[in-house]
Amino acid sequence: MSSDKRSPLVVTIDGPAASGKSSTSQMVAARLDLRHLDSGMIYRTITHARLRGGEAPEQWTEQSVLHAARRVSVAPGATSFTPRLDGADCEAAIRGDAVTSTVSLVAKMPHVRAWVNALVRATAASHAIVVDGRDMGTAVFPDARLKVWLLALPQERARRRLVQRTGRAPTDAELAAETAELERRDLYDREQTQPAADAVWLDTTGMTQDEQVAKIVELALERR
Ligand code: C5P
Repeated sequence: MSSDKRSPLVVTIDGPAASGKSSTSQMVAARLDLRHLDSGMIYRTITHARLRGGEAPEQWTEQSVLHAARRVSVAPGATSFTPRLDGADCEAAIRGDAVTSTVSLVAKMPHVRAWVNALVRATAASHAIVVDGRDMGTAVFPDARLKVWLLALPQERARRRLVQRTGRAPTDAELAAETAELERRDLYDREQTQPAADAVWLDTTGMTQDEQVAKIVELALERR
C-alpha cells in the first residue's frame, strides 16, 4: 500500500468526544512500542495560539487562524508528542475551557484541516504512531494498518469524564449537564467524525480500559 511506504506502522483510533481515545491510544502505543499522537491536541494548540491574538472568535478569519497554525509544531518525546507554540511547550494551556469551547470552530475550517492533516502525515513519515482523532482513518490515513472506531453511550462518556475530572462519582445533575455538553459537541463535530468503512468498531460502554487496550493490541499484532 502506498502510505505504508511512508509510514512504518500507523494505527488510527477515531471516535466522538470523551470516548477514551487519547488514554486508550497512549496505552496501546506503549504496549506496541510506538509513539502516540493526539490530533485533537494540534487543533487545540492552534486555537490557543489564535486566542492569544485577542479578538473575539466570531471575528476570526480562516486566514488569521492559518497564520496562527504556522506557529504550531509537535515535538517527539519518549512515548508521545508534545504541542509547541513558537517552539515552546504549551501542553498546560490547551486543555482549559476557553480552548475547549472554541476549538470546534477552528476544526470546521477546511484549510486549517488540510494544514493539520499535512502535519500529522509528515509526523507519521518519520515515526511509527498510534494516532487518535475524528478522521484519521478516513481523510488522513485511508491505508492505515489498523483502524479502530471507539464509541460509548453519551452518558457513560460523561460519567468517565466527570470521574476523571473530580475523582468521585458524579451527581445526577452533573451527569445530565455533562451529557448535554457532550451531545452538543457530537452534533457540532459530526461532519468530520465518521468511521472508515473498514474500521473495527469497539463499543466500550461495558468494557474496562484494560480490556479495550488488550483488544486493540491483539488486532494490531494480527496485522503487523
Ligand atoms: O479530542 P479533543 O476533544 O481534544 O479534540 C478537540 C476538538 O478538535 C474536537 O472537538 C474536534 O472539533 C476537533 N478535532 C477534529 N479532528 C480531529 C481531532 C480533533 O476536528 N482529528
